[in-house]
Amino acid sequence: MSSSMHDFEDEEDPAAVVPTGEDWDRLAELRELFLSSEGGFQTVGYWNSRRDFELYDATFAERIGWKWDAVLAELAQRGRLPAATNVVDFGCGTGIASRRFVAAIPGVKHVYLSDRSKQATWFARDALKLQAPKLELTLHLPRQEDPIDVLLASHVLGELDAEGRAELTALARRAQFVLLVEPGSHLLSRTLGGLREELLDAFDVLAPCTHAATCGMFAAGHDDDWCHFFARPAPEAFTSAFWRHFSTRLGIDLRSLPYSFLALRRKGEPLETRGVRVLGRPRLLKGRALLDCCDTTGVHARTLFERDAKKLFKRLDRSGELLVADARVEGERLVEFRPLGDA
Ligand SMILES: C[S@@+](CC[C@H](N)C(=O)[O-])C[C@H]1O[C@@H](n2cnc3c(N)ncnc32)[C@H](O)[C@@H]1O
Repeated sequence: MSSSMHDFEDEEDPAAVVPTGEDWDRLAELRELFLSSEGGFQTVGYWNSRRDFELYDATFAERIGWKWDAVLAELAQRGRLPAATNVVDFGCGTGIASRRFVAAIPGVKHVYLSDRSKQATWFARDALKLQAPKLELTLHLPRQEDPIDVLLASHVLGELDAEGRAELTALARRAQFVLLVEPGSHLLSRTLGGLREELLDAFDVLAPCTHAATCGMFAAGHDDDWCHFFARPAPEAFTSAFWRHFSTRLGIDLRSLPYSFLALRRKGEPLETRGVRVLGRPRLLKGRALLDCCDTTGVHARTLFERDAKKLFKRLDRSGELLVADARVEGERLVEFRPLGDA
């Protein structure tokens, strides 16, 4: 290979966001804001410039996109992806949720981008237009008479006061499907759990639950637990200089991408209530693993012995492994454990 060819192949993408020192500081500031606002209700806006959106979109939003990929992959694997023409992205920020959704679901025609920052909706509009030029985009919430097929809300619950929360719930009640993706924190996961209980009168749960019983995390003895999962980052998170800088500058462990989520469908044909959903990460011990299994009976730590599931055992340490499984239990021991999709 000639050296000029080599230089060409090594070139940076000219459209890529290349943060300066000041940019990294600003990202650190935004991260502080997000962490401190969680559950403390962010009553003031924090977006200061178009650059904020560019930086956020290339970093935090990208990581959120990997969580959406995990959620949409789970729904696909379980045969529960929603169909949609009209989609609302509430608290859209730079619009990562609707971009991931539109990429995964054919047939979306109209996206309502709504955010208390109108500049955010402008950024989200431009990004979505680039990805899907034919989409109809509206930069506010649908009118009362407009149908909502799917309501998306991503990393916004922690910023809502009572009024914002009521607005979100009212929108949810108008939608056929609701997809909420949040950080995998104790507080936000349990907030999602509360919303699930509130909406169960009108909705069935598509995921993560395998059942529509009361959330097992609200049972006695589970106050310190929470329903959460770990998404798999895209491969470039481990290979690119950009993500290495991100990790070093912001002190973020790229391997760990915890999230919580809730996917609801307006009550209709009964959903199959079958199997268990493994929560969090399996805890690997010598010759056995502890799995937090959720099903209609609640959340229970179960033991899977390596000798009972040799092949599966090798997969257990991979974060992001989707584990919805048919299980048979004797005492606390999983004597049969067959993940969905396995023969
Ligand atoms: C952390 S950002 C998340 C953005 C985007 N959904 C994502 O997943 O990347 C939260 C967004 O919610 C918006 N927001 C906060 N409170 C809101 C409210 N009451 N109504 C509409 N948007 C709100 C903020 O302006 C911000 O853009």
